[in-house]
Amino acid sequence: MGFKEGFLWGGATSASQCEGSFDLDGKGLSVSDVVSSGSHHSPRRICLDRDPAYAFPSEWGSDCYRRFEEDIELFTEMGFKAYRFSIDWSRIFPHGDDAEPNEAGLDHYERLLSALREHDIEPVVTLSHSEMPLNLVKKYGGWRNKRVIEFYVRYCSAVFSRYRGLVKYWLPFNEVNDMLLPMSAFGQGGIYHDGTESFTEQPDYPNERMNALNNILIASARAVKMGRDINRDFSFGTMICHITQYPRTCCPEDQLLVQMDDLYRNCMCSDVMLRGEYPYYAWTYFRRHGIELELTDKERADLKAGTCDFYTFSYYQSICQTTRAEEFGDQTGGNIMGGVRNPYLELTDWDWPIDPVGLRYTLNKVYDRYRVPVMITENGLGAVDVFEADGSIHDQYRIDYLRRHIEEMRKAVDDGVDLIGYTPWGCIDLVSMSTGEMKKRYGFIYVDADDEGNGTFDRFRKDSFYWYKRVIATNGEDLS
Ligand code: BG6
Repeated sequence: MGFKEGFLWGGATSASQCEGSFDLDGKGLSVSDVVSSGSHHSPRRICLDRDPAYAFPSEWGSDCYRRFEEDIELFTEMGFKAYRFSIDWSRIFPHGDDAEPNEAGLDHYERLLSALREHDIEPVVTLSHSEMPLNLVKKYGGWRNKRVIEFYVRYCSAVFSRYRGLVKYWLPFNEVNDMLLPMSAFGQGGIYHDGTESFTEQPDYPNERMNALNNILIASARAVKMGRDINRDFSFGTMICHITQYPRTCCPEDQLLVQMDDLYRNCMCSDVMLRGEYPYYAWTYFRRHGIELELTDKERADLKAGTCDFYTFSYYQSICQTTRAEEFGDQTGGNIMGGVRNPYLELTDWDWPIDPVGLRYTLNKVYDRYRVPVMITENGLGAVDVFEADGSIHDQYRIDYLRRHIEEMRKAVDDGVDLIGYTPWGCIDLVSMSTGEMKKRYGFIYVDADDEGNGTFDRFRKDSFYWYKRVIATNGEDLS
């Protein structure tokens, strides 16, 4: 059994990482516009105002805002069936609390969506991927404030109405469960405190962070409910950062540790978004950690009324956990969070474990849990590419990574998982979220730009471009 007919092969990006043009056409500043460049070993800095002492990569991204037509031609050449991108909230409502949307912003995404439709590429649209208008942070305290729910719903109403006939698949929030970690307090939650400076180590107040997440989940449910009233054919997906976990040993305590941590980190948000209520273990966690959730009866009803239709997730890696840290203390890095090192897995140059089999394991796990269609909306290898004198880029390592993951996807389909799409991350090179670097590249398409934003920004086809084109043309049969 292979991939189903109409399988959505494509790629994914986010506005703040690829668009550039951060001040064009009436766009307001977003949280991403005040996070500086960084590197693997020096964290990005959160500035709140645009401090001239720092460089801010959202200024240039990959110049996709101005070059989207050229990019769509390249996606078409690869045979893309789907393109996941995000609408930048701060282009539509520059201050977040504006009474009316910004026409220039709405017009831009209408042109982008129309171009995708003309090329038979299905848009998969993320509504919020670290692009909260900065004004909502300064004036309201970000997602801690329940008024922000209202502003988000106003934003969704504007785009749902305008793109009613152009979009089917919507993702209300990127990696909503990232909010379970302090690192996402600013970028996702819009939470800023004195001392909020380092992207990787932010001052943390779990009670307010969890309440901000609760407000995000309520906002998502209200948007879903409203979206269905606007167009019954809209389909809404979760977007979970799934950090697959294994016990480092077979001792029962390690199983329990992983069971509990996996429920909390990987399942809680999708349980709320697909089942419409907080699960029992969430309440236990809140009680044990002194978290008091502000959730009214009306909000509980909203969560029930606005559940999603399908499950999407990002998958880059797995980690191990153990209660025996003194014996198995080796740590590894990772996307959003690292963990105990798995001796059976290799690491990328940024220390993320590579685990294709874990993708099959995860697909079976989430499909068994929810029994709704599943889409992998991020996966890929961040690596340094060498640009040869003749303009070629030989990224065999990326082809190997993707091939091994697609092989496991195919096995999961054979296991019976209803997998409907695959949009690998950064299909065109873009700025890394965690480090702010350009040199950590994921794309099939090379962008001539460096970490400081120098370069022509011209596009070049990597070897993986031709390889993925063949994969799509054969619906995943030819992975050679
Ligand atoms: C995901 C995010 O967590 O990981 C993306 O949704 C991000 O925005 C991707 O770019 C890869 O992480 P990084 O840090 O390598 O850019």
